[in-house]
Amino acid sequence: MELPEEPLLNILKKEQERHGYLSDHVLKQVSIEIDVPLSKLYGITQFYTMLRTEPVGKNVIEICMSTPCFLNESDTLKDYLEEKLGIKTGETSEDGEFSLFRVSCIGCCNEPPAMLVNDEPYTKLTEERIDFIIKELRD
Ligand code: FES
Repeated sequence: MELPEEPLLNILKKEQERHGYLSDHVLKQVSIEIDVPLSKLYGITQFYTMLRTEPVGKNVIEICMSTPCFLNESDTLKDYLEEKLGIKTGETSEDGEFSLFRVSCIGCCNEPPAMLVNDEPYTKLTEERIDFIIKELRD
């Protein structure tokens, strides 16, 4: 019997929490343990932006690009973060300190623009606020 997608997503999220990201090795192990084709697991990792198949930095920044945040300059702040961190979205800094990703709504639409830093929400972002947050993470 084939498992529906939601339980699989939860299993993959838990494995990602344990290992930091979903390597080929981890995905193969999960595939064997729960008897689900590896191709199906790869498909899920490609669909859900919160799943990572590459190693990530010590600090993971996920900036929201959904409409309420986008209309409040999240795209400009994404560019600012890229410049400040010296990386493009989807990349990790050379020192391994930061990874930057674009995500869909993180549930903070009433205080846009918003981002997650290591799963903690930060809202009403400005360049000054981002400077402060990055400085705190670097110290
Ligand atoms: S649209 Fe950005 S948090 Fe909901």
